[in-house]
Amino acid sequence: MSGVVAHYGRVRGVLDRITEALTSMGLDPATGIDPAVLAPVDEFHLGGHEATMAFTASLGIDTNSHILDVGCGLGGPAREMARTYGCHVLGIDLQPEFVYAAEGLSLMTGMEGDTSFEVGDVTVLDRSDRAFDAATMIHVGMNVPDKPGLFAAIASALRPGGRFGIYDIMRTAGTDAELGFPLPFATDESDSHLASSDDYVAALTGAGLSVVHVIERTDLVGQVIQRAADGPKTPLNLGLVMGSEFPTMFTNLRGAIKGGFVRPIEIVAEK
Ligand SMILES: C[S@@+](CC[C@H](N)C(=O)[O-])C[C@H]1O[C@@H](n2cnc3c(N)ncnc32)[C@H](O)[C@@H]1O
Repeated sequence: MSGVVAHYGRVRGVLDRITEALTSMGLDPATGIDPAVLAPVDEFHLGGHEATMAFTASLGIDTNSHILDVGCGLGGPAREMARTYGCHVLGIDLQPEFVYAAEGLSLMTGMEGDTSFEVGDVTVLDRSDRAFDAATMIHVGMNVPDKPGLFAAIASALRPGGRFGIYDIMRTAGTDAELGFPLPFATDESDSHLASSDDYVAALTGAGLSVVHVIERTDLVGQVIQRAADGPKTPLNLGLVMGSEFPTMFTNLRGAIKGGFVRPIEIVAEK
C-alpha cells in the first residue's frame, strides 16, 4: 500500500495550491465557492463531473441516504452527490493530504455538514453495521489487489437492498498488452491491479451482491475530453494534485484506451 500512498502523495500543500488557483481566477475562497467550479480539480476520474452524474443516477440515493464513498480523493464526487441528492456522504481515503484537502474544500463550499472524511485503508474496511444505503467506488479498484475481499467488506456495510456502484478503469478481456507508466493511478506495475469487468462481476457475485448493470463509458469520456480540449482553459487542473508528470500519466492512459487495452466501465450491484 505504501506505493499507492507515495503515488498520490507527490504534491504537498494540495489545498493551498487549489486556493491559490481560485484566487488567480478572481474568486475568494473565504466568502464561499460554488462546488461546480471545483470539478476540473476535485473529480479525479475519467469523464469528471458528467461521469459522476451518469454513474450515481441509478444508485437509488435520496435526501435520507447515507452514502459511503471508498477512495474519495479530494471529495468532489461526495460533494456532488450531497448537492444533487441532498444525502450525507462519508468519504474514506488512504492519502492524508487528500482528506485534508477534501475537508477544506467542503468548508469552502459550505458543504461541511453534508460530507465527512476520514483517513483509512479500504482494504481493511470494517463497517459491518449495514449503516449505509449505498456505496460508491470511483477509479480506486485499480489499486486494490483483493477485490473479492473489498467487495465482501462493502456488502457488510450496506443495508439490505442497498446499492454499490463502481466506476473503474478495467482491463479489456483477452488483452494483456504491457501498459505505459506512469498512469494516473500507478507509478509502475507494482501498484496497478487492473481486472476485467468479468472479474469484477465474479467478485461482486461472490460477495453476495446481484449485478444490476455493466455500462462502458468510453464514449462519454471521449466526448468530455474533447469538450475540455476545445473549451476555455482553467488554472484548476489535476496537475495541482498530481504534479508535473500528470500530462504524461494522462497521455499514457489515453493511449491504453485508444489501443483497446483498458476501458472506463460502470457496474452497479445490489445487496
Ligand atoms: C484516482 S483517485 C479517485 C478519487 C475519487 N474517487 C474521485 O473520483 O475523485 C483514487 C483514490 O483512491 C485512493 N485509494 C487507493 N487505494 C486506496 C485504499 N486502499 N484505501 C483508501 N483509498 C485508496 C487514493 O488515495 C486516491 O485518492
